[in-house]
Amino acid sequence: MQAGTTASKTLLEVQDLRIVYQQKDTFPATDQTVHAVNGVSFSIRQGESFAIVGRSGCGKTSIAMSALGFVKPSAGTISFMGKNIWQLDRKELRRLRPLIQPVFQDYGNSLNPRMTVNKIITEALLAQPNDQTQLDAVIQLLDSVGLDSEIRWRFPHQLSGGQKQRINIARALALNPKLLILDEPVSSQDLSAGVQLIELLNRLKQTYELSYLLISHNLSIVRLLSDRIAIMKDGVFIERGPAETLLQHPSDNYTKELIDASNLTNLS
Ligand SMILES: Nc1ncnc2c1ncn2[C@@H]1O[C@H](COP(=O)(O)OP(=O)(O)O)[C@@H](O)[C@H]1O
Ligand SMILES: [Mg+2]
Repeated sequence: MQAGTTASKTLLEVQDLRIVYQQKDTFPATDQTVHAVNGVSFSIRQGESFAIVGRSGCGKTSIAMSALGFVKPSAGTISFMGKNIWQLDRKELRRLRPLIQPVFQDYGNSLNPRMTVNKIITEALLAQPNDQTQLDAVIQLLDSVGLDSEIRWRFPHQLSGGQKQRINIARALALNPKLLILDEPVSSQDLSAGVQLIELLNRLKQTYELSYLLISHNLSIVRLLSDRIAIMKDGVFIERGPAETLLQHPSDNYTKELIDASNLTNLS
């Protein structure tokens, strides 16, 4: 992490977050309560990358959805730049909402298939006053995610998985965010594109002083991209710490199993 005053500023603060879903099934008629998140607290400073790691179903995406304002917490608070995001007035919402941007797992589906790349990114550039500055901005955004400007005339189905994910990132950057929420950003099928994507994300973090909330089940990806890691199981954090310390000295068996499953090398 970089030194300096801005680096130590707390950006996101989550306190005792709880998320409960009421699941109604019609046949057989049941009313189930799912305690997805059971009292989770953490904070992320500006320029920092914090990862939540755990097996499928442990509650990771629920935390992300809540921080993005999509799933209301059952209890606890989520503050962004000192404001409780679930108690914002309209003006604050308009100011703060663009500053937290998601980069979702199903990147293919989050791009409108009927729009060109140019249109997809331009839609996010609401603040840009005219066509020429918009075009310049699109080209610059594509460049910052390592894509050639010609790609802007393509449609999503004409892009590879890695290119689509870069377009997603470019669209998020168009809003000048401070925090990116990356939910399983790297597909496990395509690891060589994955490594390049991780390098890109690390570079963007430096350039734009971004913070990341990274969610993954794969510790070899998390290791390359995060400063601190929390291990999540059944809705709670069971251990946490600086990335390398935690990976080299895991105390819980569940963490050890996750490390084994991720095929980490060079751990002493
Ligand atoms: N909208 C929902 N309604 C009911 N249950 C849900 C909903 N979303 C998630 N869940 C449940 O909450 C738990 C945590 O899910 P999730 O946050 O998606 O975990 P993860 O991202 O770690 O796989 C799971 O048991 C899941 O089935
Ligand atoms: Mg998930």
